[in-house]
Amino acid sequence: MKKIKLTTLNAKKFIADDNFDNNKIKTEAAIKQLEEKNGAGSDYLGWLDLPYTNTASDISKFVDQFDSNIDTVVVIGIGGSYLGARAIISSLAKPFEKTKVEILYAGFNLNDDYHLGLIKYLENKNYAIIVISKSGTTTEPAIAFRFLRKHIENKFGKSEAAKRIIAITDKKRGALKQLADEEKYKSFVIPDDVGGRFSVLSPVGLLPIAFAGFDVNEIIKGARDLDKLTKSDVRFEDNIVLQYAAFRNALYDSGKKLEILTSYDSKLHYFVEWWKQLYGESEGKKGKGLFPVGVLNTTDLHSLGQYIQEGERHLFETVIDVCTPKEEMIIEKDDKNLDKLNYLAGKSLFEVNQKATEGTIEAHISGSVPNLKIDLPKINEYYLGQLIFFFEKACAVSGYMLGVNPFDQPGVEEYKKNMFRLLGK
Ligand code: PA5
Repeated sequence: MKKIKLTTLNAKKFIADDNFDNNKIKTEAAIKQLEEKNGAGSDYLGWLDLPYTNTASDISKFVDQFDSNIDTVVVIGIGGSYLGARAIISSLAKPFEKTKVEILYAGFNLNDDYHLGLIKYLENKNYAIIVISKSGTTTEPAIAFRFLRKHIENKFGKSEAAKRIIAITDKKRGALKQLADEEKYKSFVIPDDVGGRFSVLSPVGLLPIAFAGFDVNEIIKGARDLDKLTKSDVRFEDNIVLQYAAFRNALYDSGKKLEILTSYDSKLHYFVEWWKQLYGESEGKKGKGLFPVGVLNTTDLHSLGQYIQEGERHLFETVIDVCTPKEEMIIEKDDKNLDKLNYLAGKSLFEVNQKATEGTIEAHISGSVPNLKIDLPKINEYYLGQLIFFFEKACAVSGYMLGVNPFDQPGVEEYKKNMFRLLGK
């Protein structure tokens, strides 16, 4: 079985031996806490079982039987309730081509023009809605759903609209659950013990991904294989979850306060967004935690590149290196060569991008930016499944090592309290 790989050599030299040994030891206790389910937030470990359920095949069957004339699905959700689906769909979709069913997103902002534009765009679409909220009470998706529910009911009639709305929410609680029951929407459950940002392998992520036409069974297979390769009985030297958790904590202890996740493939933009949310919301608490930053190169080499190379030395970088392209585009020889690019003739853009990756990593290391590198053999469902489970497990282990509960988000309530007060709720 081919698998994602982690290279740590270019981080090790920035870490003192005793700091590294100390963090390596900490990984043992942390992974045991996770497996034995006795750490903080242990009632939110249901995501560990998601690679072993039948959800993916149930979802595939459901989507196969759904009205085949639908051309568009609007996914309503925010944070963990939509980023996982968006991450996978935009990683797998071909640029400038629509997926099998076009997937649009709403409920992740409070912008008038976004929602007005979306509703206008939906005028000529034969569409359905997936509304996702575990709590069923989050303001942004609730407002978006109020607008879109009215639109879909006006467009198709109330009873047809009800067949086109799918709710993914809590088993028992929340306004969305009550609405779904009353209006008889098809519903999927977010298990009680799965938090939003760990929910991509539940219906929350799998249903939109399946509508987009991608193979959710392969995603689950990738996650399952990765899980088996990173259990507590797999020794540290072979266990990339433990290694990643140990290195990022050791770098944090040696004064690195920011982790940059860099991709050189712009299709991974939302994957990086998903990672930012996963790590930011899981670790940033009690005055602690690496600040997760996303960078897309080579674009950002002409933006944040200067800072990364020469700014404050409080950061390290984790690069996702896609090893094989889906398709290649060859640079041709030009007779006049006025742009002086003939030295690239015969090479693909992928090869040029690889050299940009290698060259930048080398420059960053010499500029004292420690580097971790994740080799992704290819962007497909199977390896993305591995990558998702790798980051989820490492996040939990890393959070335990840091001494926080990786599964709560008490800080998110602060803005809500103020907003509600200001709005007179
Ligand atoms: O990861 C999380 O738990 C959060 O980002 C939630 O997913 C987000 O706040 C949305 O919550 P809900 O699904 O309850 O609407």
